[in-house]
Amino acid sequence: MDDQKNMRATTALLLSSENYDVQQAAGGEEALAKLGSSRVDLMLTDLKMEPMDGLTLLKKALEVNPRLQVIMMTAFGSIESAVEAMRQGAFDYVTKPFKEGELLYRVQRAQERAQLLATVDRLTGEFNERHGLSALVGSSPAMTELSSRLMRVAQSDATVLVQGESGTGKELVARAVHAHSRRQKLAFVPVNCAAISETLLESELFGHAKGAFTGAVRARRGLVEEAHGGTLFIDEVTETTPAFQSKLLRTLQDGEVRRVGESITQKVDVRIVAATNRDIELEVREKRFRQDLYYRLNVVTLRVPPLRERLEDVPALAEHFLKRANARSSKRKSLSTSAVEHLMGYSFPGNVRELENLVEQAAALSESDELLPEDFPLRPNRVTGGELGAPPLPLAAESGGRLPTLAESVEDAERRAIAQALERYQTDLGRVAEELAISSTTLWRKMKRLNLRPAGGEHRE
Ligand SMILES: Nc1ncnc2c1ncn2[C@@H]1O[C@H](COP(=O)(O)OP(=O)(O)OP(=O)(O)O)[C@@H](O)[C@H]1O
Ligand SMILES: [Mg+2]
Repeated sequence: MDDQKNMRATTALLLSSENYDVQQAAGGEEALAKLGSSRVDLMLTDLKMEPMDGLTLLKKALEVNPRLQVIMMTAFGSIESAVEAMRQGAFDYVTKPFKEGELLYRVQRAQERAQLLATVDRLTGEFNERHGLSALVGSSPAMTELSSRLMRVAQSDATVLVQGESGTGKELVARAVHAHSRRQKLAFVPVNCAAISETLLESELFGHAKGAFTGAVRARRGLVEEAHGGTLFIDEVTETTPAFQSKLLRTLQDGEVRRVGESITQKVDVRIVAATNRDIELEVREKRFRQDLYYRLNVVTLRVPPLRERLEDVPALAEHFLKRANARSSKRKSLSTSAVEHLMGYSFPGNVRELENLVEQAAALSESDELLPEDFPLRPNRVTGGELGAPPLPLAAESGGRLPTLAESVEDAERRAIAQALERYQTDLGRVAEELAISSTTLWRKMKRLNLRPAGGEHRE
């Protein structure tokens, strides 16, 4: 976009020979018109031009396309104006006369930056779509009711208990509660109680003093403090021991935390959203979950229905996941009617997450642009009761046509090993843990998850 025709033509030729897609403009107005009508990542312009000078063009061009990368070409000796251009948003400048290599190097850098920004835009969009206000897809009566209840609950500061089978969207619901609350601008801090050992969980949540335990080289604040002013999402809250539950209860009751190994407490202002995929009332009746904590958490319940009870949401959800997969791979695959019907005949033991995985796999593996029923290999429909919680995993031998996943096989092996040790040492859980070379906390958690009880005795806690 130089006013000197020769210079422009040679530069254009150079860039074209490097496989850049080049457009030329004889002046500022023409350049702006081109920017408005096509996608341009990078503009090279002279500073001294008539009638529109380079700085004015820069300003107007960035108004048309704020993501545009601009490289100014300037005569030797006018560095000040080049610096001014960069202050006003140009990416770089080259002084004339320049070597081909230098120009190409700067153009390449600008191009890389344009690509980086495009990636950031895409990821931000994806993130908002996942976690933002429009995230909950589904207009079945069950989902509509859930959404309207969620909106009302979100505005209050009440503690919320989210219940639902695995993969139904509990975390998404928790994020939506936060996103619709007055705390939306502050942190949403998730903590998964099943993912880490209880000792670690405690110091993660409450923080610790320096030297509180081996390895605590410096003091650390916990997630409860991180969430100050915002929302703390306590996921899989039923996977904790009653001892831990009573610590959690104290924090909730007093609105204070005490770091592990410290004596002073600190006030915190957090909203609690907890989730479980178990029948928590049953856990309370069987004394695995403290009743007082249950009452504390269960101020409001949001129940996320399993997907098989709202199969009418399947088409919209499938479209939603396909759209996301398409955006990621820059493809334009679509769902055939027969594929949608095929999916709607399925019971989705893994709920929305299973549908999400199916769609992503089909989008990645299918050869044609229209996805067909055979692109969605479904597991044999299992009989699933209406009870909460994931259906017990079948033993490998019982899983029908499908091979067991690695996680299932591992769980299978764990179940056998623990059952065998329990058989031998009965209620002596200390010995069981010792034989299995795991801590008694780990044993306790695994037994709970696998629904195993000590043989011939009461389950001790
Ligand atoms: N209504 C929905 N609309 C769009 N996406 C959904 C919806 N429900 C669930 N998902 C997606 O399905 C996946 C599983 O959801 P999520 O992690 O919230 O489930 P969960 O109930 O917490 O599962 P788990 O008990 O296994 O932790 C996520 O990727 C989530 O984005
Ligand atoms: Mg979850």
